[in-house]
Amino acid sequence: MKKVYVGMSADLVHPGHLNVIKEAKKLGEVTIGLLTDEAIASYKRLPHMEYEQRKEVIENIKGVKEVVPQNTLDYRPNLRKLKPDFVVHGDDWKEGVQSQTRRQVIDVLKEWDGKLVEVPYTEGISSTKLNKALKEIGITPDLRVKRLRRLINAKDIVRIIEAHSGLTGLIVENTQVNINGEVREFDGMWASSLTDSTIKGKPDIEAVDITARTENINDLVEVTTKPIIFDGDTGGKIEHFVFTVRTLERLGVSAIIIEDKVGLKKNSLFGTEVPQEQDTIEGFCEKIRAGKRAQVNQDFMIISRIESLILKQGLDDALERAQAYIKAGVDAVMIHSKQDSPKEILDFCEEYKNFERRVPLVAVPSTYDTIYEDELADAGVNVVIYANQLLRSAYPAMLNTAKTILTNKRSYEARENLMPIKDILTLIPGGK
Ligand code: SPV
Ligand code: MG
Repeated sequence: MKKVYVGMSADLVHPGHLNVIKEAKKLGEVTIGLLTDEAIASYKRLPHMEYEQRKEVIENIKGVKEVVPQNTLDYRPNLRKLKPDFVVHGDDWKEGVQSQTRRQVIDVLKEWDGKLVEVPYTEGISSTKLNKALKEIGITPDLRVKRLRRLINAKDIVRIIEAHSGLTGLIVENTQVNINGEVREFDGMWASSLTDSTIKGKPDIEAVDITARTENINDLVEVTTKPIIFDGDTGGKIEHFVFTVRTLERLGVSAIIIEDKVGLKKNSLFGTEVPQEQDTIEGFCEKIRAGKRAQVNQDFMIISRIESLILKQGLDDALERAQAYIKAGVDAVMIHSKQDSPKEILDFCEEYKNFERRVPLVAVPSTYDTIYEDELADAGVNVVIYANQLLRSAYPAMLNTAKTILTNKRSYEARENLMPIKDILTLIPGGK
């Protein structure tokens, strides 16, 4: 019996997959190399179903002898191990991100005289179409909550950006760039206290209360499927924080980040320009523990944000706090800085690597914005948050338009910076 290898993601199984397996079966005994979440997330969005769920589906398909994990998009490690006589794949991988993978497969098969067999693409159905349909159906709160942990496990670095309205949520949900076949998009949304406050014309001092902040969350969950991280400021009083945790879980928010400050909170990017008081380690640990006890959904994450570098308390204080907060049960740690250079963040990361007990690490490069995601990932950062860039780009554009109209006493001159009326009418489908 000849050995046949088929690599697939098998997230949304459709007749195209069945056809490939059927053709493979004609050649011999079929082993499916099922791409893991990590392998898939390396070149496109995370699959809807987890590995074990996908495995259960695929191993029950007629003609499949065995399912093995394929940990990378690169087939070669598995192929060298299994030395199949044939690799079978749909012929749609000749272009795009998989074309290099295809080349590698052809080359490696030569080592033992194996052959690549390509099955014509099944027209009329595709994962892209099914994905679009799924997005239209939406997502349940529980599935959305879980998605952040899955992303952290699957990706080198999870990319989050601020969304302060349904419209910005749609930008985060749908914006993609295709860089040499790698489809890049944001993984989720940051409900920032700064932008949630600014959009309401209020300062970032916890004056916009949780009830008002959840209005934005409601707008986001209505029109998106990606995970949300909520900026919980100080978390408020412990007695109030436990209710916030429950409210957010119910809405399908994946995580809350609370900062270790007390009293009237001011935005961290003021640094020591304004009086800001850091909580005691014990006081903040108590808040973490209370939040963890209040949590009902085990996938929800409570993330502690360390303000020691912002408040010039030094690296040692930051590290001591990280250790204590982890011991108190936080699910991740955010380390913040307002330096122009990433040096103090990288110093923290270097020391953090030596911790015996570690949780995922979050960074917010607002001021030290020259650092690339890959550099953060190499330093051990798991989640990067672009905390305010969408609003910071929208405001100057709006201000400019207002001034142009005032200057000219008509709007014609502003036209070149405006989207056409037809486009704004159809930007959100369903209006007609
Ligand atoms: C926010 O976006 O509100 C934050 C990040 O908390 S920072 O503005 O840097 O404090
Ligand atoms: Mg904030």
